[in-house]
Amino acid sequence: MLKLGIIGTNWITQQFVEAAAASQKYELTSVYSRHEDTGKTFAEKNGGQVYTSLETFFKAGDFDVVYIASPNSLHAAQTIQALDAGKEVIVEKPLVSNPTEYAQVKDALAAHPELHVFEAARHIHEPNFRAIRKQLSEMSVINGATLTYMKYSSRFDNYLAGENPNVFTTTFSGGALQDLGVYVVYDAVAWFGKPNRVHYYTTPLRTGADGKGIAVLGYDDFDVTLNIGKNTNSYLPSEIYGLKDTIVMDNAAELKSVIYHASDGSTKRLSTEPAANPMLAEVDDFATVLNDPKNPDNMRHYQTWLHLSEIVNGVLYDLRRKASLVFPADK
Ligand SMILES: NC(=O)c1ccc[n+]([C@@H]2O[C@H](COP(=O)([O-])OP(=O)(O)OC[C@H]3O[C@@H](n4cnc5c(N)ncnc54)[C@H](OP(=O)(O)O)[C@@H]3O)[C@@H](O)[C@H]2O)c1
Repeated sequence: MLKLGIIGTNWITQQFVEAAAASQKYELTSVYSRHEDTGKTFAEKNGGQVYTSLETFFKAGDFDVVYIASPNSLHAAQTIQALDAGKEVIVEKPLVSNPTEYAQVKDALAAHPELHVFEAARHIHEPNFRAIRKQLSEMSVINGATLTYMKYSSRFDNYLAGENPNVFTTTFSGGALQDLGVYVVYDAVAWFGKPNRVHYYTTPLRTGADGKGIAVLGYDDFDVTLNIGKNTNSYLPSEIYGLKDTIVMDNAAELKSVIYHASDGSTKRLSTEPAANPMLAEVDDFATVLNDPKNPDNMRHYQTWLHLSEIVNGVLYDLRRKASLVFPADK
């Protein structure tokens, strides 16, 4: 059983600890919150010892692996702090704000080669994601894709009321690209590789962060268009184009329904019913590696995820630069 510590007590951490419990591979032992009351409420429901000092949490907390679900701008520093304390790390996406931070995380990992850092890009661990990859390997030509992930954030109500929620600020490395765009950038990089060129056209918010945007990733023979947003809802399906054949997804990040439309007009369902908790596949995958880190398959999977994470974070940065989106973390 892996002993688990958590940073951040919002709903996503609740979903993560429920997935961890359902996997039967983790036991929550330590909870960090900036506020005693918030930490206690979380621990009363889920278990664990509460810490309100991050230093004490890492020094005294009895856990093997930490799940970091704080605002984006804190991920890199907290990951490095965790590695230096000898902890394995599962960190919410995006792992870093920019390539400088990625290099710092890599340095910290190199100093602790026995430890691992997993970026929690949940959907790439789901069976329906792998089913798409398998179908792509059987298609003779890829002619591009249009991938959409636009979901109205409940926090946009607060933004409209005059507040500046973390996720809509550059201070916390927020915005549509970092928060939701990361999923479709993961899709593109995992399915088609690193793009040769990128463009990003944004609808900026008063905070300077992007509320919505259209990204174009250029490859040798095709382009991939990404529609992303947090201030509106889109019900558009997403598509990957072959010649006469097409893969159609209900949603490029949630992947609940995936249908292959073959050249002859027939259709084949690629998706299976997703798990009730969308984080179950990733917590299972991470535990498999952590429980047997020297297993060659596990080492290969881990290196693949880490490599993918570095490319995705690099593409996010390149897209941001194209849109002149600067974060305080960049300075
Ligand atoms: N995988 C997914 O499906 C998914 C879904 C949603 C979010 N996420 C990711 O999860 C992370 C957290 O997102 P969120 O929307 O929950 O963020 P958030 O509400 O802004 O912050 C998350 C937690 O961090 C702590 N926190 C808040 N402001 C802070 C500050 N100024 N300094 C230090 N700690 C602070 C709070 O915990 P305490 O008050 O207890 O300290 C809070 O519960 C993000 O990286 C996001 O991308 C992932």
